[in-house]
Formats: sequence, C-alpha cells, structure tokens
Amino acid sequence: MIGNGVVGILAETSNKWERRAPLTPSHCARLLIAGKHKSGVDRIIVQPSTKRIFSDSQYEDAGCVVSDDLSECGLILGIKKPKLEMVLPNRAYGFFSHTHKAQPENMPLLDKILAERVSLFDYELVEGNRGKKRLIAFGKFAGRAAMIDLLKGLGHRYLNLGYSTPFLTLGAAYMYSSLAAAKSAVISVGEEIAEEGLPSGICPLVFVFTGSGNGSVAAQEIFKLLPHTFVDPGGLAELFEKAKETSRTSKRVFQVYGCVVTCEHMVEHKDITKAFDKDDYYAHPENYNPIFHERIAPYASVIVNCIYWERQFPRLLSTQQLQDLAKKGCPLVGISDLTCDMGGSIEIINQCTTIDSPFFRYDPINDSYHHNMEGNGVICSVVDNLPTEFAKEASQHFGGLLSQFIGDLVSAADITQLPANLRRACIAHEGTLTPLYEYISSMRNSGMK
Ligand SMILES: NC(=O)c1ccc[n+]([C@@H]2O[C@H](COP(=O)([O-])OP(=O)(O)OC[C@H]3O[C@@H](n4cnc5c(N)ncnc54)[C@H](O)[C@@H]3O)[C@@H](O)[C@H]2O)c1
Repeated sequence: MIGNGVVGILAETSNKWERRAPLTPSHCARLLIAGKHKSGVDRIIVQPSTKRIFSDSQYEDAGCVVSDDLSECGLILGIKKPKLEMVLPNRAYGFFSHTHKAQPENMPLLDKILAERVSLFDYELVEGNRGKKRLIAFGKFAGRAAMIDLLKGLGHRYLNLGYSTPFLTLGAAYMYSSLAAAKSAVISVGEEIAEEGLPSGICPLVFVFTGSGNGSVAAQEIFKLLPHTFVDPGGLAELFEKAKETSRTSKRVFQVYGCVVTCEHMVEHKDITKAFDKDDYYAHPENYNPIFHERIAPYASVIVNCIYWERQFPRLLSTQQLQDLAKKGCPLVGISDLTCDMGGSIEIINQCTTIDSPFFRYDPINDSYHHNMEGNGVICSVVDNLPTEFAKEASQHFGGLLSQFIGDLVSAADITQLPANLRRACIAHEGTLTPLYEYISSMRNSGMK
C-alpha cells in the first residue's frame, strides 16, 4: 500500500478553527497534471469538509476525488492529528503529531500508530541537512497572526487600565480576508499613533521579541508597520531614563519601541569571565544562569516569545521572577507565547487559549488565573494553531513547501529509499519507533515530558 502513488487528504477534526489544508487545489492540480511518472502522484482523494478554506468543488475541479474513504491511499496527509479511527494500517501519514517530546496527550495516538504499523512522518522534524532549519513550516504565519491578535488584546487591556489607544480599532487576524487587509488595518493604527500619539503613562511601550527565527521575524514584520524604533537590549535602561525626562514635557508619545533578544541576552555563563558561546550554551545549558528577568523583562511592556525551548534550558521567565518584577512595578501588560510550552520557558503558561478567546490574565501578586481583562496582571495569549487564522495564505505557503517532498513520500515503498531529511522525520515505522526516536519510550517510562 505504501508507495502506491495515491495521496489522501484528511478532513481536519482536531479543532473547529482548523481550516488549513496540507495541499491546496492548485498544488493538487500541479501534481496530478505532472502525472505519476513525474510527480509520483497517480490520484488524490480528499475527504469532504465544509469548513476547509478550499471547497470540495475546488478540489474536484483540480482533478481530485472527494470521498470519506481513504482506504486506497498509501500516503495520507493532514495538518493536525487525525481521529484515532482514521488511522488506517500500513500507510504512511504526514502531519504535526506533537509526539517527539513524548507529549502525554498524544501518546494514545502514537500507540495507535505503532499498533497499526503506520509510517509516521512529522513535518516539524523535516530539517535541512545543514543548520537544522525546518523545511516545512507555518512559522511566519504564526508570528503575524500572534502579533495582530496581541495588538488587539492590548487595546482592550489598556482600556481596562484606563487608557484609550488606537489598538482598540483592530480586529483579530482571522477577521481579515487576507494578510494584506490585516496589514492595512495595522498601518491605520500606526498612522493614528503617529498623529495622535499614545498616552505617556503607558510609554515607552516596549515590545520584546525573543528569538530570531520565523515566528519572531514575522511578528516584527507586523510591528514594523507601526511608527517604531528598535533598541539594543543594552540600551533599554537608557531608553527608560530618557522617557522619564520626556514625560515631564510631553503627554503623548508618537512611536513604539522594539527589542530583539537572543540567547546571549537570556543567559550568561556561570563563570562570568567567559564570553557567550551559543554552541557551548546549547551543549551545556546547566553552566548558564538566567539574566532575562534582570536585564530585559523590567523594561518590557509586551513579550512576544518565539524561541524553541526544551526543559534542560533555563527558563526565560520563572513564576517567581515575574512575581518579583510585579512587586517592583514593572510595565509588563501582555505576553504572546508562541511556544505554547506548558510550564515552559515562561513558567506561568499553564493552558492553551483559543482563537475565539485568546487571552487569560495572570495576576502575579495573587498568583491567580482569570478569564477576563479587568484587574491586575498580565494578559497572555497561548494559541497553538495561529497560522489557521490566515488559512488560505498559510496553506498556499505550506503546500508549496510540502509539494517538493510528495514525490518521494508517495512513491517510496521502503523508508531506506527516502532522502535523509525525510528518513530523519520518520518517528515510527512497521510497528516500532525508528532509532532516532527510541528515546520517546524511555521518556514515557520515566514519566518525563
Ligand atoms: N503557536 C503556534 O501556532 C505556532 C506555530 C508555529 C510555530 N510555533 C512555535 O513558535 C516557536 C518558534 O518557531 P519558529 O518557526 O520561529 O522557529 P525557528 O526555528 O525559526 O526559530 C526558533 C528560535 O529559537 C531560538 N532558540 C532555539 N533554541 C533556543 C534556546 N534553547 N534558548 C533560546 N532560544 C533558542 C533560535 O535561535 C531561533 O531564533 C517554536 O516554539 C514553535 O514551536 C508556534
């Protein structure tokens, strides 16, 4: 069955907002027109869906068959995990499985995959041969949607704190028909800031972006539509000193500030005579102390957290650190945590939020969580399916990247025939974890996450 040239596309069932598709009708048309001898694809069967951003008839027009029955398909593709009963035996599957960190909520799915002798390819693990850059990702759309939703949330949060700001006029990312329409709304907000200014009581309004990857760059892309200045991490204290002086003479501030923070501003070597060395940090995180809470967080109004993080690394911001900062009166009002790691790099993050209701409020003084915007604390957005807010453009981008791998995935009957980067993204095969992922069993046995 595997390698038979027939591709299945799942109807997404994990979440009501999931309207993306791994391949758009145009991608399917290109693969089908190229034919089996060129693209490897003989047929494409698409499960019907009335909420997918592309209609069933668009797939039919592209030459696909629309049917619930994917039993003919050797390769079955989705975005998020399928229902357990949709896991057919001895097929190859591609989707974001969220199993490689032994995430407990997805272990029943992994067990089913092993029991059904499925070959599981996880898009998140398809990386370049050099530099570990992910080759099939939605990263840019996550950052863009996160930033637009955060700006909208800030409008409400500041209103609750007694400040009217131009952010209030923004909609959530999904409310715009295209990225261009969303950007134009942000530009209007920026024009209002440039003309009317922001209340000095919330300024300097500093957006801290962590990491320099796809998510961070894309969030900055939206931020840059506002009148702005970027400040080096080392220049934050001075910015605040100057702002104090300016606020004596001016009641309005006509721009926002950005600060991009990478590892060297998050930690320092325990031996402070040693210069920061990223490779050494990744290899020996235990030798490093966190510094973000002292050098960056006291100046941040907003943190957009876009790093990749694992438990062996120091946290960006622990609960205790945030509570201490709040007691000292820090300006932090909002966090957008793209990582969605529970109790992760930002320790207070203990729940995912949804596109309909993207924020919870954490009150650091009382160590309590709330689902409203009124009261003390920091609003936090933890949406784990952000790119679906731009379902059409995100699918077009993603499908373009995925298309390059379809030929190999759909025609290789044996994983040893696959290119190295696809082999390395294969978590399970013929009923066992592949050698690179055998550690998942020991993580599960030791109860680690
Ligand atoms: N919420 C969503 O819908 C959504 C969607 C896509 C990606 N994400 C998440 O967003 C985050 C960023 O994704 P991306 O596509 O930008 O990834 P990326 O690989 O492009 O960038 C990751 C960044 O993290 C930095 N980094 C890696 N290890 C680090 C460490 N130990 N400490 C500090 N920094 C470290 C890297 O230098 C890089 O700047 C990831 O956690 C990813 O899972 C979330």
